[in-house]
Amino acid sequence: MYSINDGRESSKDRPHNAEGGGSVSPNGAGLQQALERLQQENTRLRQQLELVKKEQTEYLQNVSHQLVAPLNAIKWHIENLTAGRLNEDRIRKVLRSIYSQSTLAVHLAKNFALMSNLEADHALSALREPLETIDLCRLMVNLADDFQPLGWDRGLSITVADYPLKSAPPVLAIKPLISQVFSNVLENAVKYSEKGSEILISGGHNSQEQTVSVSVSNRGIPLPVPETNRVFDRGYRSPEARNLYPAGTGFGMYIARRIVEIHEGTIEAKNDKSGRVTFTVTLSVSKLEGKTRKRGAKDSTNRR
Ligand SMILES: Nc1ncnc2c1ncn2[C@@H]1O[C@H](COP(=O)(O)OP(=O)(O)OP(=O)(O)O)[C@@H](O)[C@H]1O
Ligand SMILES: [Mg+2]
Repeated sequence: MYSINDGRESSKDRPHNAEGGGSVSPNGAGLQQALERLQQENTRLRQQLELVKKEQTEYLQNVSHQLVAPLNAIKWHIENLTAGRLNEDRIRKVLRSIYSQSTLAVHLAKNFALMSNLEADHALSALREPLETIDLCRLMVNLADDFQPLGWDRGLSITVADYPLKSAPPVLAIKPLISQVFSNVLENAVKYSEKGSEILISGGHNSQEQTVSVSVSNRGIPLPVPETNRVFDRGYRSPEARNLYPAGTGFGMYIARRIVEIHEGTIEAKNDKSGRVTFTVTLSVSKLEGKTRKRGAKDSTNRR
C-alpha cells in the first residue's frame, strides 16, 4: 500500500479535526503533510522556471544589444561615406573602423553560435565531431605564432617553454574545440597583459593520472579575489576588463569551461604570488577512448 507518513509524528502532536472535534486519523494527517510538501515543491519549481525564463530573456537582450552596437556603427560609417562629406584621411579611418567593427560582429556571432551549441549538447558524443590525438606542445606553438602579432604594438612577447611539455604524450580530444579553448585563454592573456610583458606557456605530463596540463600565464589586470572561479560564469567581466575592452562578451571563459567539461578535463584560474594570472587546462590522455568516433589515420596529417 502507498504510505506517505514519514513515521516521525507521535500521537501527542497529531492535529485535531476542527469540525468534529475528534482526532484526525494518522493517514489523514500524513496526507495533509504530503499535500503541503507538494504545494511547496510546486511553488519552488514555478519560481525556478520563472528565473530560467528571466535569464533567457536577459541573455537574448544582451546578445542583440551586443550585436546591434557594431552593426549600427558600420551603418553610420557607410552613411557618412555615401554622403561624400569626408576627406581622404577620414575615409581611411572610417574604413579601418568598419573593418574592426565587422571583425567584432563576427567574433560576437561566433561566440553566440558556439555557446548555444554547447548549451544544447551536454555530451561529447552529441557533438558528432571526431576525436583526434593532439600534440598539445605543437598546438600551443602554432597558437603562439597566431597570437604574437596581436601583441606587437604593445611590446608583448609569447614564449612556449617546450620542456617538459614536448615530451608529454598526445591527448584524445576534439581538435577544433580544444583549439578554441586555448585561443580564448591566449586572447585574454594578450588583451589583459600590461605593456612590454611576457606571456608564458608551459606544461607537462602527469604519468600517474595520465593527464597533460598546459598553463598560460600573464601579468596585467588581476582576477576577482577571492572568487577567481567567477571568470568561468557566463557573462562575467571584471570592472578592470570592462574598462580596458568595453566590447567583450564575457563568454570566452564560459565556453572554455564547457568545452573542457565535455572532455572530462579541468580548467583553473589563479592569481599567483608573483602577481601573474595563470589559467591551467588539464586533459586526459585516453579517458575518452571509445566515447565517440575517432578520426581516420589519413586525417591526422593536418599541420595543426
Ligand atoms: N588573463 C587574464 N587576466 C586577467 N583577467 C582575466 C584574464 N582572462 C580572463 N579574465 C577575466 O575573466 C573575465 C571573463 O573572460 P572572458 O574571456 O569570458 O570574457 P571577456 O574577455 O571579458 O570577453 P570575450 O567573451 O569577448 O572574450 C574577463 O572579463 C576578465 O575579468
Ligand atoms: Mg575573453
